[in-house]
Amino acid sequence: MAANEHYDLIVRNATIIDGTRAARYRGEIGVRGDKIVKIGALDKSSADTEVDAAGLIAAPGFIDAHTHDDRMLLSNPDMTPKVSQGVTTVVAGNCGISLAHSPANGAATPPLDLLDGSGDWFRFPSFRSYREELAAKPAAINATCLVGHTTFRVATMDRLDRAATPAEIARMREMAHESLASGAIGVSTGTAYPPAACAPTGEIIEICHPLTEFDGLYVTHMRNEDDRVTESIEETCLIGRTLKVPVVISHHKTVGLKNHGRSVETLKLIAERMDEQPMGLDCYPYIASSTVLRYDRLEQSSRIIVTWSKPHPEFAGVDLDEVARRLKMTQAEAVEKIKPAGAIYFMLDEQDVQRILAFGETMIGSDGLPHDTKPHPRLWGTFPRVLGHYSRDLKLFPLETAVYKMTGLTAGKFGLKERGVLKAGNYADITLFDAGTVIDAADFQHSTLPARGIGTVIVNGAIVWRDGKPTGARPGRVLLRNA
Ligand code: ZN
Ligand code: CU
Repeated sequence: MAANEHYDLIVRNATIIDGTRAARYRGEIGVRGDKIVKIGALDKSSADTEVDAAGLIAAPGFIDAHTHDDRMLLSNPDMTPKVSQGVTTVVAGNCGISLAHSPANGAATPPLDLLDGSGDWFRFPSFRSYREELAAKPAAINATCLVGHTTFRVATMDRLDRAATPAEIARMREMAHESLASGAIGVSTGTAYPPAACAPTGEIIEICHPLTEFDGLYVTHMRNEDDRVTESIEETCLIGRTLKVPVVISHHKTVGLKNHGRSVETLKLIAERMDEQPMGLDCYPYIASSTVLRYDRLEQSSRIIVTWSKPHPEFAGVDLDEVARRLKMTQAEAVEKIKPAGAIYFMLDEQDVQRILAFGETMIGSDGLPHDTKPHPRLWGTFPRVLGHYSRDLKLFPLETAVYKMTGLTAGKFGLKERGVLKAGNYADITLFDAGTVIDAADFQHSTLPARGIGTVIVNGAIVWRDGKPTGARPGRVLLRNA
């Protein structure tokens, strides 16, 4: 073995948590090009760039299992809300919402407006055209993309309050096929939202048929997360079994006061089904959810904060009951007055959040909404909050498990080969962090503060974040499934 090897980059003096749940160990990481070529004692070796990780953990770059970053990848390619947390790959296109196939009639239809209220960014006639633009204008971090069933519906149907006709289903199935053939890793649905709520199970199965051929993922913001949450889990499993593909339950939760505690029941059901079919789930570490402003959430929430409003931008960050007071209206009337809008809803139980986070198969996904005026703090805080608050401070699980839930587990479930684990031969996506100080700083008042305790972040061998700032490097790639 040559003693004096030369590398492009060496991470020195690190404590390595490799993303498999194995116990941490001391080591140095040698990188050439975009790959890790050696992990071990490299004290006799040299490198063009040396990064000192003394006192820090070196982990695989975090994979955000659930995002709405389709547009941010192009409009804000530094991806600061994510890189500042140590995220090196995002899964985009969730909840039925993707930029392609763009609706011809713009996309002001909620919830598509979570990506862009103006509709200007809905300009991709095919998934191929979106992927080509991402490849031509790379972001700082990697992306892997789902395509959205709700986007297909808005692009195809004249009205959304009904099931699709056989002709419409055929066109949407063609869109799904084109997308998967061009590198999408699966189809997402958001049957909880009105534009997709009238799609029966059969419509979804028919449109998602190409998943079988491509071994794509079926990823879903389920039809119901409150009183009928177990029925929704069964529907999700049925779709996966019928198509013979893996399913992912997005941002798993049990919503509303009378469903608090029901994660005991849902996790038992999920564990049983997991013995029979491939399945995953993700979760964000907060008791408040966030989406478009919806009247039907009023009763289920103990507090609602407006995150944006098109007609009344001045109410971003204001509690809905204060909005109602200022407008001298009931809350229900205020909702109508300030729509289209977005909101944060306090409607989950801390014990459920902890139980779901601690479940062995649960991945971490932010569900961050990057274009909201006053976004839910999960956009900037999810990963450090799991590491610092839930793992270190509350001791919900060991740090090795926390890292696994945001790296190795996620890469496995989504089929991202040679990512998610620090070992020779894998891509050099590496995050350094201080286990003693890492913590989220964003809260519901100051929702866009970068986290503390994240050090250097490396993507495909290039440093994208150093000294609390983006470096301007744009080594991000579009990742395919099982490639
Ligand atoms: Zn969702
Ligand atoms: Cu989502």
